[in-house]
Amino acid sequence: MTPGQRQALERLWPQYGIDLPEAGPLDLDLAFGRRAPRTLEIGFGMGDALLALAQAQPQRDFIGVEVYPPGIGRFLLRVEQLGLRNVRVICADAVQVLDRHLPPGSLSQLLVLFPDPWPKKRHHKRRLINTTFLALAARALAPGGQLHIATDWADYAQAIGEALTASTGFSAETTAAERPATKYERRGQRLGHAIHEFVYRRR
Ligand SMILES: C[S@@+](CC[C@H](N)C(=O)[O-])C[C@H]1O[C@@H](n2cnc3c(N)ncnc32)[C@H](O)[C@@H]1O
Repeated sequence: MTPGQRQALERLWPQYGIDLPEAGPLDLDLAFGRRAPRTLEIGFGMGDALLALAQAQPQRDFIGVEVYPPGIGRFLLRVEQLGLRNVRVICADAVQVLDRHLPPGSLSQLLVLFPDPWPKKRHHKRRLINTTFLALAARALAPGGQLHIATDWADYAQAIGEALTASTGFSAETTAAERPATKYERRGQRLGHAIHEFVYRRR
């Protein structure tokens, strides 16, 4: 982490960071100081999508979950520059957050844009999206809530599609959902990868 990123993280965390409790659910109304429909993005990276969505929809709340602190420092500087009041950040493993700290039905949208592909077969077990993840996602989303996953890795896309088909918690959305572009999406496009989108509704 650069000194600037560290400083930004320390200075801005009290305003935008959500510290996880030892155990038990988060109070999201308290974290935002209001009750509003909520989107959570897992692994926001540079945060291009989260910033664009939060700017465009001030009536909604946006939570970013990311494990990489230098990225969070940089992201919070941009949140401050844009004067966004509807963004909060959690620095933790998203599976733990979903499993232990998100109240059931607390989200209206869950985004996972270009999760780490772990392309080697022996690393596939490290991939985020699997049936366990989908069960946690289904619990966190309110009925009718949207799950939107995108990847540029064909074999990951196939595995995600199979897991979604096997899941009883979701049904496929018939219309494609708009979303802002991301850094890893542009990288995939430069490599000539096709982009696979999964837009599902919580039953
Ligand atoms: C390939 S990058 C994609 C970043 C961004 N979504 C994009 O499309 O440009 C994956 C991101 O997910 C984060 N990540 C990986 N595993 C995670 C986890 N279990 N919980 C939260 N974030 C995670 C990584 O730190 C990284 O920033």
